[in-house]
Amino acid sequence: VERGELRYEGKAKRVYATPDPQQYVVEYKDDATAFNGQKRDQILGKGSVNNAITSALYPHLERAGVPTHFIAQLSEREQLVRAVEIIPVEVVVRNVAAGSFSKRLGITEGTLLARPIVEYYYKSDVLGDPLINTDTAISMGWATDEDLSTIKALALKVNAFLTPYFLARDIRLIDFKLEFGKTHDGQIVLADEISPDTCRFWDAVSGERLDKDRFRRDLGNVEGAYQEMLARVTREQA
Ligand code: C5P
Repeated sequence: VERGELRYEGKAKRVYATPDPQQYVVEYKDDATAFNGQKRDQILGKGSVNNAITSALYPHLERAGVPTHFIAQLSEREQLVRAVEIIPVEVVVRNVAAGSFSKRLGITEGTLLARPIVEYYYKSDVLGDPLINTDTAISMGWATDEDLSTIKALALKVNAFLTPYFLARDIRLIDFKLEFGKTHDGQIVLADEISPDTCRFWDAVSGERLDKDRFRRDLGNVEGAYQEMLARVTREQA
């Protein structure tokens, strides 16, 4: 697939136009940032690992009834996706207290939540993705009430599929972030990646962190953890 003009460049990915206006190419980079870009580095091989993990998971999610932008993996670092306009609302689903949730509410990391919590953040690098609620998104015109109902239901469906999928591979899915987009005909689809950059994965036996917290918290062996997650995701189950 021929790459056209650069449409968008984020911290971890570039999006290119293609000859078909309904399709984009996404390229995964090795660049890693944390704390709203204040901590920067490269994680060797991260782009290809995150592309491989996302490309393995999205077809499963489609089969589980979650419409997505994914069409095909094109190469080690590239995917072909449906062209969407990203809704500037990041959706976080939490099963276990960790990260900003633990910090904000003073709840010990690892505390099991009685039911999954869905949170919304405004996607804005300059503001550092502030926490919002659905009224904020509707009032600002970022999404409609109906869009947000669809998005919440899809986010919970993703969680309901991924939680047992990872548990079968000895991984606890602690929390994760999703992004949704709108196609030219107004369909809401899951977009962006699902990877150790955007999820917290804890080893079910040892509790070892196998995600970006190794980078954020300087725990070491970041590359090894990402490779281990790819091996678990693509592991054949009995
Ligand atoms: O930092 P926080 O605890 O709010 O993150 C919740 C989840 O969302 C984590 O899995 C984190 O990796 C992910 N996240 C993300 N991109 C952001 C913020 C959080 O992928 N901008």
